[in-house]
Parts: sequence; structure tokens; C-alpha cells
Amino acid sequence: MGAKLWGGRFTGEADAGFLRFNRSFDFDRRLLAADVRASIAHCAALRRADLLTEEEARAITEGLLEISRRASTDPDYLNDAEAEDVHSFIEARLVQLIGDAGRKLHTGRSRNDQVATAFRLWLREEIDQLNERLRALQAALLDLAERHRDAALPGYTHLQRAQPILFAHWCLAYFEMFERDRDRLRDARRRVNTMPLGSAALAGASYQLDREAMARALGFEAITRNSLDAVSDRDFCVEATAAASLVMVHLSRLAEDIIIYATTEFGFIELSDAVATGSSLMPQKKNPDALELIRGKAGRIFGHTVALLAMLKGLPLAYNKDMQEDKEAVFDTVDTVKACLETMATVLRNVRLNEARAREAATRGYMNATELADYLVRKGVPFRDAHELTGRLVLAAMARGVELQDLALDEMRAIAPMIEGDVYAALTLDRTLGSKEVIGGTAPARVHEAIREARQRLS
Ligand code: ARG
Repeated sequence: MGAKLWGGRFTGEADAGFLRFNRSFDFDRRLLAADVRASIAHCAALRRADLLTEEEARAITEGLLEISRRASTDPDYLNDAEAEDVHSFIEARLVQLIGDAGRKLHTGRSRNDQVATAFRLWLREEIDQLNERLRALQAALLDLAERHRDAALPGYTHLQRAQPILFAHWCLAYFEMFERDRDRLRDARRRVNTMPLGSAALAGASYQLDREAMARALGFEAITRNSLDAVSDRDFCVEATAAASLVMVHLSRLAEDIIIYATTEFGFIELSDAVATGSSLMPQKKNPDALELIRGKAGRIFGHTVALLAMLKGLPLAYNKDMQEDKEAVFDTVDTVKACLETMATVLRNVRLNEARAREAATRGYMNATELADYLVRKGVPFRDAHELTGRLVLAAMARGVELQDLALDEMRAIAPMIEGDVYAALTLDRTLGSKEVIGGTAPARVHEAIREARQRLS
């Protein structure tokens, strides 16, 4: 069914290989339902402008709905090796279904405003789905935090033991990242939700089409203000893949943390068999494939963002066929990020913290050294001096192969005479954690409050 959208001006036949190369139907068929919706709104505008009779408008609308129905029920319906793109497919099927009235639908529009409109409608819906999956992942993080509400974990900088934290605090750190991601998507959605329809090819439609009414019918918050910009703008694609790129950065860092924590060397986290694989050769292995794939797929999404930017940067106004490349980049971004979000939520439901091991690690390796310096500050020592004295105490403890709290009081006082018997209580894990009482700190009371507050933000 290769009904061409142009004919009059052409005398020669197109090269078969070029026609294949030019086609986008194999992937842009995903826009069918959105394009049908936009076409129905356009049809209503044509009717209101008296460019269609009542009967023609009804036949077109019903024909379009029928196409949508068939596309979603009959898997063979979309088998069309010749349709150039989803727009020409729908128009050809419409003419097949209802005859000549179908040939009037394209009055006052171009595939240029048509594709931008359908793509925005489609993406708006997908952004909402991404938002839902992000929320589900955040809920899984809060559940995990609650399963191990009071468990400690070593906190790292430079991947060197730094200070103890609550495991729940670590969970909440990722909660915050995904909260920002949802905010970015919400912001991007506002600009996605702007309607180009009525811009026609580039100059605007030459009929009195009520754009405000079309926008209302399609749920667009705004209409584009310049037809030339409207048909050449793909900022919304870049914004979506850029926001998705940051989602992937966060997923990848979370994956990496869990991969490290699940090694025998760290041994803090255990992955259940549900989300790990074995080795075909080494019988003892349990591999975190799910997480490695998430980490690996991040690069693909960054690539899509760069591909879109590069595709756009040299384009003269207005529409150019280069822009057809926007589809696969955005489609793959949405599919990949959705799958990664779902998989990560599954992983989180299938991990367990080895609380004893994590607690043990959180109390070794001089993780309370900063707490000792803070203790000295409370005894009136300037922090710089306290830092120096504590460093010497760490050195003394290291020389004996013990932790700070294992030094005798007079050993400590030989280096820092202001230390008193209360130092041992100050160096416990509970006190070390409990002193981080500032807003955003890891003190258990703060973290428990943060979990409650995070639940509220999510609901
Ligand atoms: N398949 C095209 C795309 O995705 C639709 C717009 C084509 N417009 C044109 N004037 N050739 O960009």
C-alpha cells in the first residue's frame, strides 16, 4: 500500500533502496494512537471552520477511531512494508476505509506540525509513567530503610572509611536523587505539553483553525507562539533524555554501591537468588548481573542525549528530515529507563543488609576519630589542634594495632591531657551517630523523622 503523499510534481520513480532508507514506520508506528487523537482534534477544528461537512467530519472521526482500534487489536494490521511513516499510514488507511472524505483531513496541516504534536502527546504520557516508576523505586528505598531502621554502615569518602552512618541514611540519599529526577521530569513535562498543531509546514495554517480549542481537547497546557519555531523545536526531546540521563547516573551509582557492598571483601549486602546469576564455570559464584546491566545501560542514554544535541545543532530553520532521528533516541531512552527503574526496584526488594557485619565495619578503622576531635573541641581545644592531637592518638593506636577506644586513659592523656574518663562513652557508635543532629544529619532521630517526611512527600 504505497500511496504516496506527493505525486503531481514527480515524474520519475523513487529508488527502492532510498525508500527503505527514508522510512520511519517500523519505529514511529508507536505514535499511532497519539497521532489519531491529534487528527481527531484537527478534524474538529476543520469542521468548526466549515472546511468539512458534518458527515465528513463524522466519517473521518469514526474512521480514525477504527484505525486505532484495529492497530491495537490486530497484530497484522501494522504489517505494512511500504508505508513511509505513521502519518502517511493513517491517511492511506483512512482513505481506504471512508473514501474521498479522508483526502480532506490534511487540509491546513503538515506532517511537520503533525509529528511534533503526536510526539509530544506520546512523550507526555511516557513521562507520567516514568514518574510512577520513580515513585515505586523511592517507595522500595524507604521500605529497605525501614527494614533496617537502626542499622549502621561505614560511610566512605574516596572509598576510604570515613564516618559511621545509618544504613537508612544511605537509602535516603538515593531517595533524594530520585526526588530531584521527578522534579526535573515534571519541569520538562511543562514544555513537552505545548501544542504545535496549527503551525502547518512552517508558516502557520492558512485557515481559521481554533488552536486554543484543539489544545483544550488534547489536554495541552499551552500552544506554541511561533510556527517556525514550533515545527523545528526538539528541545523537549533533549530535555527528556537529559533528565533521563541523570536518572541513569543515579541508578548507576546505586548499582555500583550495591555491587561493592555485595562483594566478599565488603560483605554488607546480600542479593537474593531472585536477582543474581551464577557462573557457568565457577560453582561458588553469585553475580550481580542486574546491577551491572543497569550501570552499563547508563552510557547508552547519555549517548542518546548527545546524539540529539549533535543532530540539532547545525539545522537551518525549520523542519529538516534529520529530525526523524529524534524518535529512536527518545523511544530507546524511555524503554531503557523504564526497564532499569523496574529492575532496580526488584533488586531493592531482594537485598538484605548483613547488620552485624556492617556494624562491625562501622566501628573499626578509626571511624570515630572525628568524634574524638569533636570531643576535644567540647573540652575547649581549637579544632585545628584537636585534629592534630587526634591524629597522634590514631598513630599511637595503630602502632599497637588497636582502636582508639582500646587505648588506656593515661596513654591518651600522655598525648592529650585534657581527655577524661568520659571519653569512652563519647567514642561509642551510638554517640558518634547520635551527635549528627543537624537537619540532614545521620543521627537516628533525624533519620527516622526523614523517613516519615519522605513518605509524606511521596504520597
Ligand atoms: N517521519 C517524519 C519525522 O519523523 C515526519 C515528518 C515528515 N515531514 C516531512 N516534511 N518530510 O520527522
